[in-house]
Amino acid sequence: MTNWTLAARAAKMNPSAIREILKLTDKPGIISLAGGLPAPQTFPLDAFTAACNTVMARDGAAALQYATSEGFAPLRRAVADMLPWAVDPDQVLITTGSQQALDLIGKVLLDKDSRMLVETPTYLGALQAFAPQEPIAVGVASDDDGILVDDFAAKAGTGADKARLAYVLPNFQNPTGRTMTEARRAALVAKAAELGIPLIEDNPYGELWFGEAPPAPLTARNPDGCIYMGSFSKVLAPGLRIGFLVAPKAIYPKLLQAKQAADLHTPGFNQRVVAEVIQGDFLARHVPTIRALYQRQRDTMLAALEREMAGLDVTWTRPAGGMFLWLRLPAGMDAQALLPTAVERNVAFVPGAPFYATEADARTLRLSYVTASSAQIDTAIAALAEAIRAQAQG
Ligand SMILES: Cc1ncc(COP(=O)(O)O)c(C=O)c1O
Repeated sequence: MTNWTLAARAAKMNPSAIREILKLTDKPGIISLAGGLPAPQTFPLDAFTAACNTVMARDGAAALQYATSEGFAPLRRAVADMLPWAVDPDQVLITTGSQQALDLIGKVLLDKDSRMLVETPTYLGALQAFAPQEPIAVGVASDDDGILVDDFAAKAGTGADKARLAYVLPNFQNPTGRTMTEARRAALVAKAAELGIPLIEDNPYGELWFGEAPPAPLTARNPDGCIYMGSFSKVLAPGLRIGFLVAPKAIYPKLLQAKQAADLHTPGFNQRVVAEVIQGDFLARHVPTIRALYQRQRDTMLAALEREMAGLDVTWTRPAGGMFLWLRLPAGMDAQALLPTAVERNVAFVPGAPFYATEADARTLRLSYVTASSAQIDTAIAALAEAIRAQAQG
């Protein structure tokens, strides 16, 4: 170890709890319900092969050259066209995954000690992305319908202490799987506009609905009061690292400058390939196949939970889309402490604590139903129930 003096912000950078757990689960025979990896059989390999060939044959060296920071124009247009409100392609910034959008937004909106509001619990990766700016993250109370608007107003702060942003995931939230109702969306947008707090809407899972599409995005209701983030990771493939944000025109140039400083631009080849793949009605044909698979997997997990957790004081969410559900252990039990007992029985999950900005509920944990097969889900949930029983007996 050197004796270098590190920046204060380096101390705020924590290893991802999920990556640490993935190390633990890297042993043969373990069934991991921990990671948030999309099911690889949904990646459209043939469409990508064809698109790569087309891009090289058609665009040649241009596909391998430096490109503009805003993003590949046809992809920006396609994103604007996909969204259910009037979006000017000039408001679309293509980012290196939507994770980069979080980083850019943090750089533009947050100072050290800026107040920022998040859901309880919230996406761990957002807390990590904002952490280097050293904000004060304040958890807003939330229920099954999403963030509680009264608590949002109570925690908004005033004057110099007014929250610089509120980060929200209205659809099939990571980690809980819950979705904000129409009424809650309308109330939150109205309150945020009244208080002048920008809403940062993160929507990587919105297309992965099972029964019916979720209500309209927050941003559609007040485009000048929101920054919207989306991603191709969950509807095509995450390895391409293609995400995007849509920002009001007044703030867009600052986000663009932050992007230029960060990485000049998102890989142009990948952008062209995605633009090629999604031409026409590709997503309209492809996404329903992902929905159908994930819905079956969710049903398998819910049935296994009903069966295996009977008699245990355990509760869980019933997501209407997305990739995750959220489980609450019996009173007095700690999910972090349960993990080694579960890993001994060859099942892994993510403990809930790192998803909380403020007080954590140590009884919670996140399960993904999309990467393991149905047979593995059955085995894993039975093993998890055994681990809970063993832990309860001390
Ligand atoms: C809520 C949420 N936002 C953003 C991301 C980042 O996704 P990507 O950078 O692949 O677009 C994820 C990834 O799991 C996520 O769950």
